[in-house]
Amino acid sequence: MKPLGLGILGSGKGTNCRAILEQIRAGTLNAEARVVVSDVVDAPILDIAREFSVPNSYLPPGHFRTRLEPEMEAKLVQLLRDASVELVVLAGFMRVLRKPILQAFPRKILNIHPSLLPKFPGLEAWKQALAAGEAVTGCTVHYVDEKIDHGDIIARREVLILPNDTAETLHARIQIAERELYPEVIADFCHD
Ligand code: GAR
Repeated sequence: MKPLGLGILGSGKGTNCRAILEQIRAGTLNAEARVVVSDVVDAPILDIAREFSVPNSYLPPGHFRTRLEPEMEAKLVQLLRDASVELVVLAGFMRVLRKPILQAFPRKILNIHPSLLPKFPGLEAWKQALAAGEAVTGCTVHYVDEKIDHGDIIARREVLILPNDTAETLHARIQIAERELYPEVIADFCHD
């Protein structure tokens, strides 16, 4: 079977991206990372792409804080198309996407979020779960729509909140769960 062409978008550390690239390298995920794109010029996710010899690009986001300038979003669509991307994987990409890209890749854009959505969308979701006194939180992979951390849910993984958890310890356990869940979900798209 032909490997599925991925385009990975991220703004930060890139630990989810690394987990995906490691599985591709190990032959346990039948995909090919065709491009990694970041809206942050010095984001570690771009270094990870270079480490794995994946084509990568910095996309200047423009002057909006939470979304891309329309011209830049059009450029992103072109970049993904030029790279023959079939599935767009948001891995810590901290901007909402708008209609042009959503329509270019209908139900082909996924996001991972560190909470059991629909609970706690937005920033630092693990802190929100701790502050709310939850016993369980986790992570969610979902289709992307125009709202923040919103769209049909594909899979969730629970993480127990322990009595002595700090924001850091909880976040670390959620990220372990993310690194398991995301490649599993992407693998299902490879089979489809
Ligand atoms: C991940 O925990 C992901 O769930 C979160 O950003 C982190 C990126 O980490 N995304 C969101 O909060 C989306 N609202 P990474 O760069 O190490 O993969």
